[in-house]
Amino acid sequence: MTFSFPKSLLLLLGLLPGQAAWAQKKKPAPAPTAASPADVERRVAALLAQMTLEEKVGQLNQYSGREVTGPASDRKNTLLASIRAGQVGSMLNVKGVKDTREIQAEALKSRLKIPLLFSLDVIHGYQTTFPIPLGEAASWDLDAIRLGAHVAAREAAASGIHWTFAPMVDVGRDPRWGRVMEGAGEDTYLGAQIAKARVLGFQGSTLGGTDAVMACAKHFAAYGAALAGRDYNAVDMSEQQLWEIYLPPFKAAADAGVATFMNSFNTLNGIPATGNAYLQRDILKGQWQYPGFVVSDWGSIGEMANWGYATDKADAAQKALTAGSDMDMESDAYHKNLEQLVTNGKVKIDLVDDAVRRILRKKFELGLFDDAYRFSDEKREKQVLNDPQNRAAARQMARKSLVLLKNENATLPLANTLRRIAVIGPLAKARRDLNGSWTVDTDTTRITSLYDGLRQRAGKTTELRYAKGCEVSGESRAGFEQAVATAQSADLIILTVGESWDMSGEAKSRTDIHLPGVQEELFKVLKATGKPVAVVVFGGRPLIFDAIAEQADAILYAWWPGSEGGTALADVLYGDYNPAGKLPITFPRSVGQIPIAYNQQYNTGRPITRPSDIRYKSAYIDSPNTPRYAFGYGLSYTTFKYSDLKIGRPQMQAGELVQVSFTLTNTGKTAGEEVAQLYLRDPVASVVRPLKELKDFRKISLKPGESKTVTFTIDKEKLAFYNAKLEWQAEPGKFNLMVGSASDDIRLDGTLELLP
Ligand code: GLC
Repeated sequence: MTFSFPKSLLLLLGLLPGQAAWAQKKKPAPAPTAASPADVERRVAALLAQMTLEEKVGQLNQYSGREVTGPASDRKNTLLASIRAGQVGSMLNVKGVKDTREIQAEALKSRLKIPLLFSLDVIHGYQTTFPIPLGEAASWDLDAIRLGAHVAAREAAASGIHWTFAPMVDVGRDPRWGRVMEGAGEDTYLGAQIAKARVLGFQGSTLGGTDAVMACAKHFAAYGAALAGRDYNAVDMSEQQLWEIYLPPFKAAADAGVATFMNSFNTLNGIPATGNAYLQRDILKGQWQYPGFVVSDWGSIGEMANWGYATDKADAAQKALTAGSDMDMESDAYHKNLEQLVTNGKVKIDLVDDAVRRILRKKFELGLFDDAYRFSDEKREKQVLNDPQNRAAARQMARKSLVLLKNENATLPLANTLRRIAVIGPLAKARRDLNGSWTVDTDTTRITSLYDGLRQRAGKTTELRYAKGCEVSGESRAGFEQAVATAQSADLIILTVGESWDMSGEAKSRTDIHLPGVQEELFKVLKATGKPVAVVVFGGRPLIFDAIAEQADAILYAWWPGSEGGTALADVLYGDYNPAGKLPITFPRSVGQIPIAYNQQYNTGRPITRPSDIRYKSAYIDSPNTPRYAFGYGLSYTTFKYSDLKIGRPQMQAGELVQVSFTLTNTGKTAGEEVAQLYLRDPVASVVRPLKELKDFRKISLKPGESKTVTFTIDKEKLAFYNAKLEWQAEPGKFNLMVGSASDDIRLDGTLELLP
């Protein structure tokens, strides 16, 4: 059965009617083996029985292969020899029909002709680049997120790729950690919903379609809690935090059928995730009965020696395999040591067989034993990669990802009558930066800059005047004078600031998350001209920009919006699309406030009751406790009224459901969408609970003056938490229900009592 998008879903996404058709286009050939699980098991067992120990270990090795298709080199020759000898199970970083065919042919020269799995980090698009995942999360639009993953999968699968190392489902609460850009932000509930959407988008409902790839839930687990926000660092946390905050998105991915997991570089309470049997055997393969396989992160098995958890690679291999790490990415530990470890009785052959079985199962499910080249079809590659609907989907998602942080004096949307617009800043004409980190395609001819987008959208009578002003980094103010002169000659300034593409992502932790360089100073001299200033901020994480936050007339947070970023920004700046993005992560006023996630806020024993009186309260003497911008915050060009909260009944029994409804009205003059958020607090419990936790949300589209009734359903699940004995349970008592436009903008509230 292949996966296709129901037409209703596509129309829901506000895609052009024609686009609904492209997803219904002739479905790709179903997997020739679309075999029953029993049939797959039979074939796996039959093959396993023929394999030597060396061939079994071969399936557990994964290597990166950019050079394996390039000019002759020692590494290339060694790798090809290993592939031909059946000592490699998967390659990463080999892409395109031509190269994957060439390398697959080498694998089919091995004795048992076991095909390779080709994998790649298709994190937010293959050739068509979507906004970075944190930007997609800001859309709170699960259907659009799923479609984005589906488009990425279609393009990757058409290019010989079987497996993407996505979605990254790590909860990311610390903006010093550069990898927050790859995830869904700080909230567990939103993160779990997005994890499911991405897995279904990448994989479809069953594996084997040639418009889908295997997904990979990573990095298991709690990588986002690296101490001090420093990448690859240790993680220490209570089991209660692990289970309540960090594991649920992984469980959601597993429940959605994610084909693989990837473990992580960090330790968890002293034990490296790669060698952590509690995570991989007890929880994942034990309690969760997970049938897929676990790939290590790059070299993480070998790195256990650096951690001081293994004496050498042989010891590391023994610990990793025993702890449930099935495939070894690039550390060579299994290749060099596992055979010997089994022969010496240090590793049980059953564990090796289990790992091999899990990997072979996926290769059968993908249909690779019936046709090892079925994902490497030249004609399909050309057709899919050049499908204009892919860019249309990217443009739609980019529009949805943009967050309007400020809009005073009706600065936005831009009037078509504007004669002269100054487009200023180091990222105004940037293209590569708009694709952000973890992009597969870096061909800048396929990327629309903000300037390009504005030029295409602005009328003939509107003149754009450009000045760079300064670089992203560096202290030079040499461009200020020109920028000021350009601004003075214009009616309005659009200033583009932010991070360059390589300032967030892996190994990009920062101790200072202010705008880099002299960009804020550039803003100040432009503001001094007295012209209205609309600021567009690009970045892979929350950034700090105090002067802009306080003095700009309008601020649009663009993240890294992908190939269609410039067109989407023009759509929003001109009001062709009314922004509806909401922040999936808190923006602090200062690094000193971190950790500051909204659901890490407790009443404490000394809450601030009057802002003017913080003496002997849980407060700072040099900063408010509140963030610059809260989780769930984002403005619109229209306004919304929340009214008429109805709680089905004041009390409920554990097994009952209670409907909570309210009326949402568009009280402005422009059609728009609102993400209405449901928060909950358990004010008295056996474990102190946060001031609020997101429990549900709805994204509602309303015409001017239109009202809709929005309904949430409360069940015991939404009231539950892990108590001190790690039992997941809801405790009788009163609960505060809150409905709002942001975690710090509660519009309606009420109480509900859970009876004993
Ligand atoms: C990297 C990343 C991981 C990625 C892998 C392969 O180090 O941690 O997310 O999938 O290596 O590129």
